[in-house]
Amino acid sequence: MQFETLLVQPRDSTTLITLNRPDKLNAMSMMLKAELVRALQELDRDSGTRVIVITGAGSKAFTAGADIREFEGRTPMEQWRMYEHGTIYDAVDRLSKPIVAMVNGYCFGGGLELAMACDIRIASSRATLGQTEVNIGIIPGGGGSQRLARLVGLGKAMKLTLTGDRIDADEALRIGLVDEVVPHERLEARTFEIADKIASHSALAVRLAKAAVRASARLPLDQGLRYEQTLFAVAMASADKEEGVRAFLEKRDAKWSDR
Ligand code: COA
Repeated sequence: MQFETLLVQPRDSTTLITLNRPDKLNAMSMMLKAELVRALQELDRDSGTRVIVITGAGSKAFTAGADIREFEGRTPMEQWRMYEHGTIYDAVDRLSKPIVAMVNGYCFGGGLELAMACDIRIASSRATLGQTEVNIGIIPGGGGSQRLARLVGLGKAMKLTLTGDRIDADEALRIGLVDEVVPHERLEARTFEIADKIASHSALAVRLAKAAVRASARLPLDQGLRYEQTLFAVAMASADKEEGVRAFLEKRDAKWSDR
C-alpha cells in the first residue's frame, strides 16, 4: 500500500501504520485522514493482518491532533460534508480486527480522540496527552466528548476538556486514559509483544470477543448480556472451538483455522 502521509508496514501478522508528517508533529491533514480511512478499510479485509498498531513518526509526537491550519476558513457545511463522508474515528470504530494505539509522544485533540477510538492504548513514559481543543476556541469533534467520559468518568473528562490541560503518561495511566506505560525505548517491543499475543489466538474468537466488549460501551446491561450470549453461541459453532477444546484435552497447542 502506497501513501503520501502514512507508512504501512506488515510485520508477521501485525501491521504497523505510522502517521508520517513528523515536521508537523503528525498533525492530521485532510489527506492524512483520507489515507488513514483507506488503509484501515484495506487492512480489515487483508487476510494476512490479524492486529493493527498505529503510531506517529519521529521522536516527539503520536499526533498533535487535527491540522489546525485547515480550520482557517472552513465553513459549517464543509465540516458537515466531512462527517457525511465518514471519519477516521468511524473507520477505527468499525474495524473488526483489534487496533492498538502506540502513543509515542504528544497526543492532543483529535490525536487523543484517535487513540481513544482504538481498542488498547500503550503509552511511552514520554507521552503527553490532552483534550486541548478549547485552547483554540473549539470543542472535541471526533468523539472526544463521549469516549473520554466513558474511559475516565464524567468529572475527569470535564476537567480535561474544559481546562485543555495536558497530562503526562503516568497521570493518564492513573485515570484510565491509557492501559499501560512503558519506558520509551521499550515501547515498540512491548506493544508488539501484546499484538503478537492477540494474534496468536483464533482470529475468529478475538473478533467475537472484541465485538462483545465494545458493545458494553453502547448497550444497556440487559441488551449487552444478551448480545454476549448470542456471540458466545456463535463461538460454539466454530471449528476453532472444537480445535481449542480438543487441544486442551490432548495437552497440545491448538492450530487455529479462524473458522
Ligand atoms: N496542526 C497543524 N500544525 C501543527 C499542529 C497542529 N495540530 N501541531 C503542531 N504543528 C506544527 C507547528 O505549526 C510547527 O510547524 P512549523 O515548523 O511549520 O511552524 C510544527 O508542527 C512543530 O510544532 P511546534 O509548535 O514548533 O513544536 P513544539 O514542540 O514547540 O510544541 C505542541 C508542540 C504540540 C505543544 C504545539 O505544537 C501545539 O500546541 N500544537 C497544537 C496541539 C493542539 O492543540 N491540538 C489539537 C488541535 S484541535
